[in-house]
Amino acid sequence: ATGCFCYDPGFKATCSCASAITYIDGPRGVLLHRGYAIEELAADGDFDDVSYLLLFGDLPDRKAKALHSARLVAERRVHERLIHFYSGFLSNAHPMAIMVGVVGALSAFYHDKLDVFDAGDQVAAAYRVIAKLPTLAAMAYKTAVGEPFVYPRDALSHCGNLLHMLFAKPGAEYVVDPLAERALEVWMILHMDHEQNASTSTVRIAGSSEANPYAAIASGITALWGPAHGGANEAVIRMLEEIGSVDQIPAAVARAKDKSDSFRLMGFGHRVYKSYDPRARILKSYCHELLGKLQREDPLMELALELEKVALEDEYFVSRGLYPNTDFYSGIILRALGIPRDMYTVLFAVARTVGWISQWREMISDSTRVIGRPRQLYVGPAPRSFAAVDDRA
Ligand code: SDX
Repeated sequence: ATGCFCYDPGFKATCSCASAITYIDGPRGVLLHRGYAIEELAADGDFDDVSYLLLFGDLPDRKAKALHSARLVAERRVHERLIHFYSGFLSNAHPMAIMVGVVGALSAFYHDKLDVFDAGDQVAAAYRVIAKLPTLAAMAYKTAVGEPFVYPRDALSHCGNLLHMLFAKPGAEYVVDPLAERALEVWMILHMDHEQNASTSTVRIAGSSEANPYAAIASGITALWGPAHGGANEAVIRMLEEIGSVDQIPAAVARAKDKSDSFRLMGFGHRVYKSYDPRARILKSYCHELLGKLQREDPLMELALELEKVALEDEYFVSRGLYPNTDFYSGIILRALGIPRDMYTVLFAVARTVGWISQWREMISDSTRVIGRPRQLYVGPAPRSFAAVDDRA
């Protein structure tokens, strides 16, 4: 159907789906956040710059940035009672299953006095979720590996603190590698927001009912998990491991083209980009740079490069506009940082929380219209009368 998500056929700037946060030009592979090109933000910005930009609309001056950083640091810890949730999960629980539970539970700890229409409360909730998601994510990882939780360190950057909470062990020295810290920060910037993707739309719909933002973010995590969306970063690595070697690539490409086979090239194709996803281009280049600096080879990187080459020489993919998307190379970077595969979508959620809460705040601030009431095109039976059970065919 024509028109936009909120069923406003006019797709006017006044409809509730209008947003000033992210602009995507699918055919040209352009991605802007508040007017800034993703290439510049990834090259020159840091986590605090870009999270402030998405939330408030401009890059912060030095004073605003210092305050923003301080507010994020102050919100990193979670209520001590929330920690008990983790002991209820089986050790083989997928970290995304844990995140869906514990992020929703934030509502039980921080929602009671929240007025979703109060500007101050909106900002307070934004700082809480952006700052607490890394802590909750690290605790999900520690639960999975059976290690004690590591509390946030105020002196560390957003990404340095996340690495520390993931990999530090009580009693052992852990020093954050600046190279890993910057690689994770660039990765986070590239995943922060992406207009009306499935999970962001979910957050906006949930929030439009005036549900609290913690529950809305939890709904976004649920939507992100699927392999057609954020779960693709984990699925790409599984696929590359399954392909195993370069000589198996032709068979994999043939399966991906075979309509009788449900196999798809994970990390390829996009609802909006029918050209190269600009984020994938940056991530691909960053993989080379990071592996080079770490003096590491990753056989999956070689496999990914060759798979891309073969696919983009194949008319099936090029004619359908199927190019690598952000998920195709993102797992290679996380592998180089020692982050396990089932944490990839969790980190996507940690990064995308900045976009989700920025979009939530933009939507709830325009409280004139409830969104998320798209209509359906009815294709069912014509009107008919009820029949008693013995009169039914
Ligand atoms: C993300 O929306 C966002 O912004 C999302 C995201 C974000 O930042 O939030 O960018 C993150 O979710 C990226 C996408 C990650 N998912 C994957 O990589 C999973 C693999 N990709 C596909 O499932 C698929 O490409 C989609 C769902 C991503 C997009 O599907 P489209 O554009 O709607 O394509 P389609 O389903 O209409 O298919 C068009 C044709 C079909 O063939 P024909 O019917 O024309 O013969 O392309 C084929 C499809 O069968 N096709 C693929 C394919 N993707 C589409 N064939 C093989 N492998 C693929 N990956």
